[in-house]
Order: sequence, then C-alpha cells, then structure tokens
Amino acid sequence: MPRTMTKLEAVREFERKEAEKIPASERLGFHLTPLVGWMNDPNGFCYYNGCFHLFYQYHPYNTVWGPMHWGHAVTTDLLHWDYQPCALAPDSSADSAGCFSGSAVETPDGRLLLMYTGVQPASTGHKEIQAQCVAVGDGRDFVKDRANPVITGDMLPDGFSTVDFRDPKIWYENGRYYCVASSRHVIDQGTILLFESPDGHAWKFVTVLDSCHDQLGKMWECPDFFALDGSQVLLVSPQEMRATDDSEFHAGEGTVALLGRYDPVTHAFARQKVQAVDYGLDFYAPQTTLAPDGRRIMVAWMQTWANTHNAPQHHPWFGRMTLPRELSVKQGRLYQNPVRELETLWAGETRLTDVQVDERTALPGIRGRSLDLTVKVHAAESPDCRRFTLRFAEAGGLFTEIRCDLDRGELAFDRSHCGSRRDIAHTRHIKVAPRDGLLTLRLILDKDCAELFLNDGACALTALVDTALEADGISFAADGGPVRLDVIGHPLK
Ligand code: FRU
Repeated sequence: MPRTMTKLEAVREFERKEAEKIPASERLGFHLTPLVGWMNDPNGFCYYNGCFHLFYQYHPYNTVWGPMHWGHAVTTDLLHWDYQPCALAPDSSADSAGCFSGSAVETPDGRLLLMYTGVQPASTGHKEIQAQCVAVGDGRDFVKDRANPVITGDMLPDGFSTVDFRDPKIWYENGRYYCVASSRHVIDQGTILLFESPDGHAWKFVTVLDSCHDQLGKMWECPDFFALDGSQVLLVSPQEMRATDDSEFHAGEGTVALLGRYDPVTHAFARQKVQAVDYGLDFYAPQTTLAPDGRRIMVAWMQTWANTHNAPQHHPWFGRMTLPRELSVKQGRLYQNPVRELETLWAGETRLTDVQVDERTALPGIRGRSLDLTVKVHAAESPDCRRFTLRFAEAGGLFTEIRCDLDRGELAFDRSHCGSRRDIAHTRHIKVAPRDGLLTLRLILDKDCAELFLNDGACALTALVDTALEADGISFAADGGPVRLDVIGHPLK
C-alpha cells in the first residue's frame, strides 16, 4: 500500500502546483508576497548558511487567515526572494490548531532552531491554549521536538494567561539561549516575559521585562528585544491602542518601540522612551535580525488586522512584507531607512535642483509606481509657503496626498481619494517639522505599496494604495507662497 502523504508533504505539493499558476507580473516588484494563499507576520527572520531566511504566518489553502503554517523564502540581497517549501504545518498534538508566530536562531553546531507558538485546540468549554514549541533542521526541513511544547503556561507566575501566550523571539548569547514572549496578565495586561535555556529545549521563566499596565493597548503581540547603538530596544505590537493627542499613536493596532537600559545580570529592563515604530496605515508585527555586517534589519507585515476584513482580493495571494529596513538609534530615537541594497534596483536618475513650485504641477521625468523618490523641501527658503503637498498614484481624479503643514510641523498622509470604496481608516497625521530649515521625504513605491521615510528615517509611514497601476502621476503644489524643492527620482527595476 502506498504511504499516505503527511500534512506537510500535501501542503508542499499543493503550493508548488498552485504557485506555478501565478505569473511574476501578478506579484510585487521587490516586496515579498506569500507563495500562495494568505500571509501575516514575519517569522524566523535570520541569516543562516549564506543567506537571509524569512518565514511567515501562512495559510496556503486560502487568501484568508486559517490554520497557521510557516511559509519560507530566502534572499541574499533582501530584495529578490526565492521561495522554499512550507516549513511547518500544524500536524502535531502540540500545534494542531496552528503554528503561530516565532523566530529562528542558529545553534552552535550549525543547525537552525525554529521557536514558535503551538496552539492546541480547546477542550469542551475551554479556549485554545497557546504554548511555545521548537523544531530543528537544516534550513529547509525541520523536526519538531517530541517534548513540545517546551514552554507551557504552568511555568508562568500567577495571573498570566495561557490563552494569550505567544510569539517567542529567541537569541543565543554567551552560551545560553534566551527568548521573550508575550502574555496577558489579569491586571497589567500586555506583558513581555523573558525565558532562559542551556540548550534551546529545556526552558525556565526568568522575569517580566515590561508590561503595559493597561496603557499602550491591551495584549502586546510579537515582541523583539535587542541592543542597538548603546540602547536596548523592545518592540511590541499592541492590540486595542487608544489614540493620543500628540498623534504619536492611533486607535487600534499599533507598533511601539520601548527604548531603555537592560542589565544582563539582573535581567532588569528600565524603559526610558516610547515611540511609534511606524505612523502609517498598514504596518504590524515587525521582526528584526542581525545581518553579518552588523546591521539590525527589520521587516514587518504590510497590513493590519483591521484592514484585512473584506479587503479586495486582486491576486491569488494576500499579504506582503515591508521593504527590509536598517535600524539605528540616534539621540534616544529609533530611526529606520530602506536597506541600502535598494540602490541596486535604481534604473536611472532624474535630479531637479532648486525647483520653485506654486500651482499644482508635474515635474519632468518624475512619475511612476515603481520609484525611489526623494524630495527636499527648503522650508527656510520658502518663507511664504504654509503648506506643501505631494500627490502620487494620480490620474483621472484619483490620488494619494502627502500634506506638509510647514508652520505647524504636521504631516498628513491621505489616501481618501485613492479609489478605495472601503470603510477603513484612510488618513494619518503625524508631527514632523523641518530640521535646520529642511524637511526631507523619501517615498518608495512598488505597485500598491507606499513607504515614506521622513527626515532621514526619523519617522516612517507605510500604507497600501488601492489605485490601478495606470495611475502613475506625481504632482507638487504649495499654498500661501512658492516652495523651493530638490527632487531626485530613481525608477526601480
Ligand atoms: C499577530 C498575531 C500573532 C499570532 C499570529 C497568528 O499578527 O496575532 O500574535 O502569533 O498573528 O497568525
């Protein structure tokens, strides 16, 4: 009798056949999309055996969320991705209701260890239980630990939820493994817990690193914890945030960077500063890795849960990752910029210096939906200009607009007129002022993806723009008086 296929073998065969039906033109230029079906959070982002590996929350059988698998892709330049077969399927008793988010680390003997949340089905009258699992492999095929789950709810102090207990981020340091994971505490709500292990398999609880104390949202998802430029950074993705008056945070799902000091002996984390990671409309669950050249690189799901319901399904896939971004900390602030490899996609240059703009105007050579565009707004030399606007993805009355109120130091990103008929948030406002008289905008476009970096990466704003690709116009205008600009455009290959 022929052996029946395992769940993982069946997925691998299914995705291989289905993916053949998706031509490259149906995908994005350089943003990763799922091989087939649905994608959410980045998982297991790491550099291993000569390339970057990026796994992702994956439901291969449909373009909506379902039983979670781990999809897998590799890249050497963070722009061109090679799909690998599905890495994990929910096929063991510890994860039969889903392999939720997690991370990866190379073991001292050169194997790749995946750590993820195994979801176990509810027994009657109960909710699903979440616990942490591991699987070890060669970077393609992984064997789940028979002892899974290796971190269970009964290892937690009183008051922590085992229903909300997930998203381990693992690292190896001074001969020991550590991981952070999130849980929900009855009083403190979103909480990040630290665990420690000598071998990656036997774990013990160490401490609570930080909690939201019912501020900064409720449950904190997808933590990441790393040292950068003399600071310690804790990234979390809170659910149910409240909007703040200073426009730092919007209501709903957010992404927050907590910057502070960490004592590796006592494991105490002292939070000093709090900021949004991204100020846009479609950004969630970021995860970082350390590149061999020392860069801390972050990638996020380019979506939020609020924007997934009834989202248009233009493609036989759903979900995408942001462009990988290089992180740094300057004067207590987290900066991010597109990875420098992006310059290898430049296919020409239009450089317009000292342009004076008044009425709405297009500029020669500046258009497109696959573009790396830098605009330097000389605010100090435009004394009468109160407001500068940049429209992109523009045609036939449709456009997305970036409005910079130079007097008030505010910027609005507004896709209300992009053509979307969906009743979702379409605008965000952020505080951003010119520095030494100059406001710099860098806008990266890849079909319906827009990523805006302000003042050399001091703020980033990510959004999807649901406008037909023929709308490739870009125009500039000033209110109050003329604005002086330098504009540099690089079409992207
Ligand atoms: C974040 C998240 C994680 C969870 C995963 C499930 O977007 O809710 O907390 O592990 O998605 O797909």
